[in-house]
Amino acid sequence: MIYTYGCALKLKRVRKISRVVTTNVSLEALNTLAIPARAAHFAELTDLAQLPLLLQFARESDLNVFILGEGSNCVFASDYSGLVIQQRLQGIDVQSECSERVLVKVAAGENWHAFVQWCLANNFHGLENLALIPGTVGAAPIQNIGAYGVEVETFIERVHAIEIDSGKAVQFSHAQCQFAYRESVFKRALRDRVVITHVEFSLLKHFLAVSHYPSLSQQLTQPVTAQSLFDAVCTVRRSKLPDPIEIPNAGSFFKNPVISSDQLIELQRSFPSVVSYPVESEFKVAAGWLIDQAGWKQKQLDCVIVHHDQALVVTNPKHRPGASVLQYAYNIQSDIKRRFGIDLEIEPRVIC
Ligand code: FAD
Ligand code: EPU
Repeated sequence: MIYTYGCALKLKRVRKISRVVTTNVSLEALNTLAIPARAAHFAELTDLAQLPLLLQFARESDLNVFILGEGSNCVFASDYSGLVIQQRLQGIDVQSECSERVLVKVAAGENWHAFVQWCLANNFHGLENLALIPGTVGAAPIQNIGAYGVEVETFIERVHAIEIDSGKAVQFSHAQCQFAYRESVFKRALRDRVVITHVEFSLLKHFLAVSHYPSLSQQLTQPVTAQSLFDAVCTVRRSKLPDPIEIPNAGSFFKNPVISSDQLIELQRSFPSVVSYPVESEFKVAAGWLIDQAGWKQKQLDCVIVHHDQALVVTNPKHRPGASVLQYAYNIQSDIKRRFGIDLEIEPRVIC
């Protein structure tokens, strides 16, 4: 009797799983590099209540789990043999407010740019410089997205997640996220170990312009308003970054390397016009400048080529496989090392 009841329960669960998990799914339209990889198992997460079932299915089937947002920072090196869960949870809730700040809790599947627009419409400030960055809210803490003088960590209060192994709900304070330039604990020790479900932002009620970034300040006229800053960021981004719908890409393919002042002086001896910015006691070198100077805007390999307006962006117009994109990137890395003695680190997530 118990055995029959157990079997019936299992059958019910298998039926439920087969309604949400599909097999052998193309990821080509789900990553902005348009890499034609496939996922052995795939599910969209639209309801948090589905997650325990999905994680149990992965555990029982001995499948690795990969959480996908909008695929704008992913390089699929090959097909994925585990379970891809696309984060689609929606919802924006104001938790509390005072005269200076507002605390907003946002579901991880919300589109980032739409959330920035929502903040602008509600007079909640801070994220204007991060307009038009592709992807989801849940992915924003992963690499601490940044642009035009602002990093998202400045406004992140807390990250809510579910542990993939245990199914347990966990929270991370700002300090526990270990944010740094294009880095966080989620990209390192917790990589593929948690599903981020919500991010809490502490936003400003009064607008404070951050407009020192050179290409941005050239675009602005005084007085700078939240709307004019948002518009200027969108204009600058559209002028140099390719729209992935037209030209598949994952944004910057490499981080800007950070070097010591001694290394910079040495570099400037051979390359006086090298572009660099001080960061604390060190210097960030513009990797786009290095790649541009090395002549990569003219070099293509298996139809993969850097963008004509921004050499830091590797493009994949012919939807070549991840191996072709990565081979092109490895060639850039060894060329930059040979010419300038600098190691370039790949910025997007490479999924093997
Ligand atoms: P995905 O690419 O789907 O995933 C990226 C990583 O995050 C993966 O490891 C994935 O497993 C993990 N992940 C995603 N969601 C979750 C979740 N809910 N829980 C756990 N793990 C998760 N980045 C910048 O910082 N600044 C820029 O200016 C910028 N400009 C860009 C311009 C273009 C044209 C493009 C294509 C990309 C750009 N990027 C930029 C990179 C990209 O937009 C960001 O990294 C973005 O946050 C990725 O979001 P996503 O939802 O697409 O994440
Ligand atoms: N440059 C060139 N040739 C090029 C590209 C750049 O000479 O082909 C030089 C120019 O001197 C330019 C300088 O490099 O002034 C810096 O270029 P840009 O302002 O475009 O910024 P970036 O350093 O190339 C970084 C981020 C971008 C972010 C912008 C704006 C990284 C790895 N990239 O690019 O983020 O949008 O600054 O803040 O930090 C991303 O992470 O995907 C991304 C797009």
